[in-house]
Amino acid sequence: MTQPFRNLFFLLFLLPLMGQGQGREKPLREVAPFTLGTTLEMNSFARPEVVAIYRREFHRITCGNSMKIKGSQPTADTFDFTMADSIVNDALRHGQLVHGHTLIWGKSLPDWLVNFQGDSVAWEQIMKTRIQTVMRHFKGRIHSWDVVNEAFNDDGTMRTVVKKKGQKENLWCQKLGPDFVARCFQYAREADPDALLFYNDYGQEYSEAKNKAILRMISSFRKRGIPIDGIGLQLHTSLDRPDALILKGIRAMASTGLLVHISELDVSVKKQLDEGMDPAAAAKAQAAKYETIVKYMKSLPEKQQFGITLWGVTDADTWLKNDTPLLWDAHNHKKQAWYGFYRGLLQKP
Ligand code: XIL
Repeated sequence: MTQPFRNLFFLLFLLPLMGQGQGREKPLREVAPFTLGTTLEMNSFARPEVVAIYRREFHRITCGNSMKIKGSQPTADTFDFTMADSIVNDALRHGQLVHGHTLIWGKSLPDWLVNFQGDSVAWEQIMKTRIQTVMRHFKGRIHSWDVVNEAFNDDGTMRTVVKKKGQKENLWCQKLGPDFVARCFQYAREADPDALLFYNDYGQEYSEAKNKAILRMISSFRKRGIPIDGIGLQLHTSLDRPDALILKGIRAMASTGLLVHISELDVSVKKQLDEGMDPAAAAKAQAAKYETIVKYMKSLPEKQQFGITLWGVTDADTWLKNDTPLLWDAHNHKKQAWYGFYRGLLQKP
């Protein structure tokens, strides 16, 4: 390579890869081959710097809480979309997409639902009405939904009731039986045939049993003609989760041929810092983890790459206590993690 070409090569390729020239990089959304999302809540609007970041860097937003049952359905017969509407309309005004999260989940339940005394017919009606009311309200504005969230235990059984260590409660399954998941997807398709329907869960990257249970569910859906378009891997992960397992989990979900959404990504460093890891080393390792995960998404067949959603913009927004798992720090500055993510987007899979 002659000197001018060497310089040009350095400027065009190596400089961005090295994470240098800070402030000159393109926004993530401009270099991403798939859609990028983040969560948003009403209180974010009070922070103009955060607003500027998510508008500049992301294609899509997800409401962190406002669309959950607790956040949108104050009684069995009343829905309140005030907050969700504000967030959705703001996103649409700024040319962004919205991913709906989440229609049916065993958590974030309001008291009226936990205390509901009806029989299985009444429970079914509540579930169906909820799915269809919410989806019809946002029809034409929201094109993808987490229809059911977290139906399985880590041991691969369905969540029904807390029985032994590691098993969790799910009222929907208790009241309606394990096939409630399939019916949710049928109700969702009826409500909005144009929306992409996702099953969302965590742990596919560390629990072989849960992974297999999800695959079994998808193949049973296929046999029975139950509609589903994609799988969300939440991927609330951490430094010590082996890359090979993450790749295995992602590939297993992709083996269904469905869309794959890394739907709630964050990379926790708390444990390592508490154990005395050097903060600079932790920051570097976090950046490497993000880079790797982005590359794994890029390695999937293109048509299955739905995208990646970060579970928050800055470390001040994270749901994890005393942790710094995101791409921007609490002062809204890009972290090394951001540069790792960026490198992952730029590199060949
Ligand atoms: C979390 C929110 O971020 C918190 O603010 C809330 O208190 C609890 O829920 N899996 C999910 C998300 O699917 O909805 C959860 O979000 C995080 C774990």
